[in-house]
Amino acid sequence: MARRRQLYEGKAKILFEGPEPGTLVQYFKDDATAFNAQKKGMITGKGVLNNRISEFLMTKLAEINVPTHFIRRLNMREQLIKEVEIIPIEVVVRNIAAGSIAQRLGIPEGTRLPRSIVEYYYKNDSLGDPMVAEEHITAFGWATPPDMDDIVHLTLRINDFLTGLFLGVGITLVDFKLEFGRLYENEEMRVVLADEISPDNCRLWDSKTNEKMDKDRFRRDLGKIEEAYQEVARRLGILPEAGSRDMKGPETMQ
Ligand code: TMP
Repeated sequence: MARRRQLYEGKAKILFEGPEPGTLVQYFKDDATAFNAQKKGMITGKGVLNNRISEFLMTKLAEINVPTHFIRRLNMREQLIKEVEIIPIEVVVRNIAAGSIAQRLGIPEGTRLPRSIVEYYYKNDSLGDPMVAEEHITAFGWATPPDMDDIVHLTLRINDFLTGLFLGVGITLVDFKLEFGRLYENEEMRVVLADEISPDNCRLWDSKTNEKMDKDRFRRDLGKIEEAYQEVARRLGILPEAGSRDMKGPETMQ
């Protein structure tokens, strides 16, 4: 089969043209970056695990009628998705203080927040993804007020659902980042969940020990990174069928 046309390469994923109009293939790499790509590395098997974890979580979300770009997983590292127009906003939800909010506001990491807090960051690598307010988003036209209504509503539902789902497998959902896109279908536009949900863009702590089970292990050089991602997949009941021996996945793409 001929190699597909590559449309975009990001830090952790590559997008290829899909088999039908309106579809794309999302390929998950093992590459890891942090601090706006100032730190670079590789987490062996990460792409395989994130492909599975994101498939699992997006499928569960679809079951409660959260619209997503996910169609189906194609193989170890690739999934078929609907082509959407990405809204250039990173939506972060925080339940417990960690990372940048802990630093910025001087709140000790691990403090439960009085309520879940939603923050927005403008997706722009050259500016280092600055935090913005809804005012900036609507004034500059990155999203419209109705888009923002959909985004907040979906984000809070996703947070409640994922908090419960992870709690059920002994994991505390500390915070996470979402991206949304506009899906044009039958002359209509819908805001849908896009990108991925995985330990790359969530903070996941073991509920009993508070041990970190996410990309902070890479960001902060805590070691046992692959093991943490595998443990998240294992607890969700979705370790890849081939087992960890084959975590590298196919070297070449069809
Ligand atoms: P922060 O505490 O560094 O602002 O991160 C909040 C959450 O967002 C955390 O779960 C990690 C995730 N995140 C991303 O997915 N991509 C990013 O570029 C950043 C800065 C954070």
